[in-house]
Amino acid sequence: MILLTGGAGYIGSHVCMALLDAGLDVVAVDNLSNSNKASLERVQSICGRSLVFRHADIRDEAAIYDILRCCGVTAVIHLAGLKAVGDSNVQPITYYENNVLGTMRLVSAMTKAKVKTLVFSSSATVYGIPTYLPLDEKHPLGPTNPYGRTKLFIEEMLKDLHRSDDEWRIGILRYFNPVGAHESGLVGEDPLGVPNNLLPFVAQVAIGRRDKLTIWGNDYDTPDGTGIRDFIHVVDLASGHLSALRHLKEPGLLTVNLGTGAGSSVLDVVRTFEAVSGRPIPYAIGERRAGDVAICYADPTLAERVLGWKSTRSLAQMCSDHWCWQSKNPDGYRGAEHPERSSDF
Ligand code: NAD
Ligand code: UD1
Repeated sequence: MILLTGGAGYIGSHVCMALLDAGLDVVAVDNLSNSNKASLERVQSICGRSLVFRHADIRDEAAIYDILRCCGVTAVIHLAGLKAVGDSNVQPITYYENNVLGTMRLVSAMTKAKVKTLVFSSSATVYGIPTYLPLDEKHPLGPTNPYGRTKLFIEEMLKDLHRSDDEWRIGILRYFNPVGAHESGLVGEDPLGVPNNLLPFVAQVAIGRRDKLTIWGNDYDTPDGTGIRDFIHVVDLASGHLSALRHLKEPGLLTVNLGTGAGSSVLDVVRTFEAVSGRPIPYAIGERRAGDVAICYADPTLAERVLGWKSTRSLAQMCSDHWCWQSKNPDGYRGAEHPERSSDF
């Protein structure tokens, strides 16, 4: 049985499908602070298998310990966390409390329950401003915002934990820019309020929820002047978790990038989204966004060499699956969940 924290969220719901499709049993834990359990209800119907859902907070060590023991958990995939960079500048302590303290409590419960296999979602944001490209795992670390620092501190904490007890099996996955949705269009990203990230904003412009996209700067030193990122299909990203879990059959600690190795510009994304959706994406050019870098993309060779994992889906597939989700669910999951919102199943 695998415990998946943050299981109702965007990436969590896709990881859940990867696990169920591989025949593994899943208990998903989420406090639903940024998600809706309708995602997991849909995961069950897509996969034709049931999972266990527990409405709980990772900071509640006793509750997590009970779940670990009662469900017979053998490994944890830990995605629960707050992730909005701008928000983390405004309320840093909330981020440290939720992400860092939450992980400490989770790991304490795991230690007590003698569950010592952990896959953790970190982020390419730990690299900060690139000093060379592509970004490999040896690149110096220096996040530029509190959210990124919570990820870095958790990484360091997990390394200390592994040094103290080498029975631990730990996989630290540094995601690049996850986008797209499950091919069914039933599960996808459902941001609250105005999206910060590019793809959800573009999708909401395409569906008519927003008038236009603002492109944050077209004077970067890139071929078309707009920022370049390593967008990765969320289904490819999810399968990387399964590969990491399989790799952790032996004790050890592995830190690995999950990206495609290819960069796409903001304008590439806009043009591709227009082509697959058949909808215009009006845009205006704005000032550069504080904290943005010009170019960021992964060297994914370690993941391929050690995990045997590689992303396979194109930018067109990412945009088309994102559009399928957005057009089938113009208001996300709102109104889709079973009436007893916080009840377990
Ligand atoms: P998300 O907000 O959709 O999912 C996170 C889930 O964790 C949500 O369902 C939320 O309700 C839950 N949660 C938050 N705090 C919790 C707590 N204390 N106890 C229990 N549940 C809690 O975000 P996502 O995009 O699916 O991201 C998942 C993880 O991946 C996060 O840790 C995030 O930092 C990391 N990550 C995401 C991205 C990205 O672009 N989406 C990039 C790099 C890393
Ligand atoms: C952002 C975060 C990063 C986090 C990641 C995933 C910052 C500085 N970085 O990455 O820490 O891990 O999200 O949550 O916030 N863009 C526009 N208009 C928009 C939105 C985005 O032009 O409305 C541009 C950005 O300037 C950037 C690119 O699109 O060049 C990608 O932006 P975004 O999707 O927010 O991802 P990152 O900035 O890479």
